[in-house]
Amino acid sequence: MSVNLEKIREIFADYSPEKGNFMVLMHEVQKACGNWLPEEALKEVAKLAKMPLNKVYGFVSFYTMFSTTPRGKHIIRFCKDGPCAVKGSLVIAELLMKELDVEIGGTTEDGKFTLEETACIGTCTAAPAIMIDEEIYGNVTPESLITILKKYR
Ligand code: FES
Repeated sequence: MSVNLEKIREIFADYSPEKGNFMVLMHEVQKACGNWLPEEALKEVAKLAKMPLNKVYGFVSFYTMFSTTPRGKHIIRFCKDGPCAVKGSLVIAELLMKELDVEIGGTTEDGKFTLEETACIGTCTAAPAIMIDEEIYGNVTPESLITILKKYR
């Protein structure tokens, strides 16, 4: 996938790259690049934000929401933290791996899904929880997981 530098410039025109906006801005850039941040995009960001490239890399490598390797169209994250683990998140993770035929951190062969683990996503009262793109699903069971996945297939 080639990087649409014009789109990145448009994003910078919409969001000023001051500290408070940088997170939102990087999410928009990642979305525009197909769920990951190629080096060419990061170089453009560094140029537009007048930041050293290593600082941009430092920022994106700090947050698990950003990736510098290609990912699928949909990002599925299962919560691995305490309350979710107690309520069966590992069973959900194993089912996800089986259903998608992919390991944690991997992307399906058709490029549709990337499976990742995450720390708490703030839905502990509805553990176990997963997140698909921006959508959070709580009280996930093996049965409901299959129904949820169907929406994205
Ligand atoms: S521990 Fe899983 S959502 Fe909080």
